[in-house]
Amino acid sequence: MFCNFGSVFAKLLFKWFEKINLKNCEVCMYSTAVLGCAWGDEAKAKIVDVLAKDADYVVRFQGGNNAGHTIKLKDKKFVFHLVPSGILYPGKTCLIGSGVVIDPFQLLAEMDGLKEQGISFENRFFIDPRAQIVLPLHCELDGKAEADSKQTNIGTTKRGIGPCYSDAVARYGIRFGDLFDKEYLKERLENIIRFHHYPISEIETVFEKLNQITDRMKPFLKQIPYLLNEATDKNILFEGAQGTLLDVTFGTYPFVTSSHTSSGGIAIGAGFGKKIDRVVGIFKSYYTRVGKGPFPTELHDEVGNKIRIQGNEFGSTTGRPRRCGWFDAVAAKYTAMINGIDEIAFTLLDVLSGFDTLKICTSYKIGDVITNQFPHSAKDIENAIPQYIEVPGWSTDITGITEYGKLPENAKKYIAKIEELIGKNVTIVSVGPERGQTIFR
Ligand code: GDP
Ligand code: IMO
Ligand code: MG
Repeated sequence: MFCNFGSVFAKLLFKWFEKINLKNCEVCMYSTAVLGCAWGDEAKAKIVDVLAKDADYVVRFQGGNNAGHTIKLKDKKFVFHLVPSGILYPGKTCLIGSGVVIDPFQLLAEMDGLKEQGISFENRFFIDPRAQIVLPLHCELDGKAEADSKQTNIGTTKRGIGPCYSDAVARYGIRFGDLFDKEYLKERLENIIRFHHYPISEIETVFEKLNQITDRMKPFLKQIPYLLNEATDKNILFEGAQGTLLDVTFGTYPFVTSSHTSSGGIAIGAGFGKKIDRVVGIFKSYYTRVGKGPFPTELHDEVGNKIRIQGNEFGSTTGRPRRCGWFDAVAAKYTAMINGIDEIAFTLLDVLSGFDTLKICTSYKIGDVITNQFPHSAKDIENAIPQYIEVPGWSTDITGITEYGKLPENAKKYIAKIEELIGKNVTIVSVGPERGQTIFR
């Protein structure tokens, strides 16, 4: 009798807890970050697209139109540069945070292209007034620095990203909010144009150019930090651009981009003052890099060529062939740590079908020293000789597989090895560019 009473009481208590929990969940905010954990192009947009189904807000927090984020939907291909990839879902709100640098002319061109494809921006696309503006002079300066044989050649996208961030930090920048106060805008333009020793006549030219687009831009103005931090019942998805090895502090400096691409960049780049609930680190199943800079596992042979062709590894923004190489677990463990990732999305696994053996770099030999720490100096990374383990490959096409258990045994062993080396679980496997070509574990 006592026992029965006890079990009924326990059941009631359990139900009560369940109710409280459900109620709390209805009013709780949930935040997810999708971050590239290598040198960019890890298929962030594909994973954002898959996860955006459950999001209310999709937010870019750094970078600019140096990003090229591709989504394939049946016979259509979309490449996003500044617009968050979530825009493909009609009901989602897409936001550009304070940490993004915006070339307004490129943004409008991108939006026009998307509108032609039936995508609407009305009341669901907003930009923080603090976001910096990329001016034509920034693009010019970027191109000049790249062409100067006395400067370190980075192989930038020439989208004016570095010069724009430099001016922001030097306090010469023009911010999105400045566009709507004509007097102040002119003052700011005078500052920046004098600073760069451009002819004074440029002030009027740039002012007129910007003036022509302010009416179109005005409806997008919104204080993003208030929107995000007060969104008590919203799911927020942060869409990273570039990758951690391109982070201006933690990447292979100076061969990096000029923004904070790692999870720390979210606080500054969106004004988000809360803990990120879920950090998804995106790793390609092999490594790629566009532009200059060290890449220890780069393949200069037929194997590298085969990966490039099977993976269609050509830049989404500049069309440049991407450098390809084996999976680098030294770099991966480092970027997982910097971002505090909770889990791994493992992408383009299908590209590795058809190799007898696959190599994974587990440590570097630099001089006489073997290390599994990612060096801070680009010179040391350049001199690092990767130490590999070899694992057997698989030959079958896996692009149609939708269940983890149905992957070839060697593909599962490859994933298990990566998990062991990074110390985090692979929860999403991408086996093709389409939404449906995704395996959840
Ligand atoms: P992002 O910059 O990280 O968003 O990546 P990009 O869009 O620059 O590059 C990723 C490329 O891989 C795009 O062309 C995608 O359509 C494609 N892609 C995404 N996931 C997969 C996959 O699992 N397999 C293959 N074969 N291609 C993929
Ligand atoms: P997504 O978001 C790959 C690289 C450039 C160059 C360096 C600096 O598509 O992954 P920048 O123009 O930013 O000053 O160039 O960074 N780079 C990228 N590489 N994917 C990107 O973006 C990149 N954005 C910049 O190639 O080496
Ligand atoms: Mg890309």
